[in-house]
Amino acid sequence: MSRTILVTPGDGVGPEVMTEALRVLDWLADHRGLDLVREEALVGGAAIDAEGAAISPQTVARAKAADAVLFGSVGGPKWDGKGFDNRPEIAILTLRKELGLFANLRPAMVYDPLVDASSLKPDVIRGLDIMIVRESTGGVYFGEPRGIETLANGVRRGVNTEVYDTLEIERVARVAFELAQTRGQRLCSVEKANVMESGLLWREHVTSLAGDYPDVTLSHMYADNCAMQLARNPRQFDVIVTGNLFGDLLSDLASMLTGSLGMLPSATLGAPDASGRRPSLYEPIHGSAPDIAGQGIANPLAQILSTAMMLRYSLDRAADAEIVERAVVKALERGARTRDLGGTLTTRQMGDAVLAALG
Ligand code: IPM
Ligand code: MG
Repeated sequence: MSRTILVTPGDGVGPEVMTEALRVLDWLADHRGLDLVREEALVGGAAIDAEGAAISPQTVARAKAADAVLFGSVGGPKWDGKGFDNRPEIAILTLRKELGLFANLRPAMVYDPLVDASSLKPDVIRGLDIMIVRESTGGVYFGEPRGIETLANGVRRGVNTEVYDTLEIERVARVAFELAQTRGQRLCSVEKANVMESGLLWREHVTSLAGDYPDVTLSHMYADNCAMQLARNPRQFDVIVTGNLFGDLLSDLASMLTGSLGMLPSATLGAPDASGRRPSLYEPIHGSAPDIAGQGIANPLAQILSTAMMLRYSLDRAADAEIVERAVVKALERGARTRDLGGTLTTRQMGDAVLAALG
């Protein structure tokens, strides 16, 4: 059965690394019978320029209809002055919200050939394999009230609201518990229950679900301590579940433990419908990297590994996902390195190295 994906290359290095990911999909079509219809849409700054908004309602509708969205990255200095309501980032925030993509899975793995690329000592990060499950449709990113207001005395005030209800906490926690069951059976829930009521509710409610997962050991940590522990001894973690803002911060930190932001993929999943179909979006953790855009030197591995996650979680192609992931490791073992990894390969040459490793 043929499946449809919506490809949104985005801005900056987005289209450059997406090209390499699509070559991997082409290889799978030629050699493994992958039957995929690929649609394409503009998002972010590219869509602001061509369509007047970071994402059009038509693109949102096409994303909803697709089996998965393969997302590039958005943003860049060119669109910085366009105003808060017309910024490229609205594209990804709208897709998360409109498609109900509440569980953002952000793995941080250290590949053995790259153990020296991290700024942390090899002994601290060798074999690292953690999964951050970041809630991605709630919290302070979307809470009301929000805005900038001017008080009677002329003072201006910016307002955002951190809010979580038990339904939101429960559905993301269950995703994290289930993932922990398939991995190291350890789940660490992260909030600021010592300061925030939303964090206290988060802790109480996650705790109340633990009985459904007797094989998983649940622990709790304050977000500030978690940041410190990630830098001190990251291998103590298996799965981390946390809210939107803390997850944003902690996943950037975790990704840098691995040596390069250019390596890490992510998947964002919604709730399965009655037929088991689940809205989903796949994107690299890195941004659009305007400083190196257009030079053809960005590392395409995060986009390629995001594509592997898509094969596994949305397209029932786990074997293909493994083939791609193994090819990435093989390319690294053979010494393939883009600049972020201390090498000299271009984006295209790194794509070539993965294709060569595919066989
Ligand atoms: C991320 C990014 C986004 C976020 C931005 C681009 C809106 O930092 O996916 O981590 O804050 O969620
Ligand atoms: Mg971020």
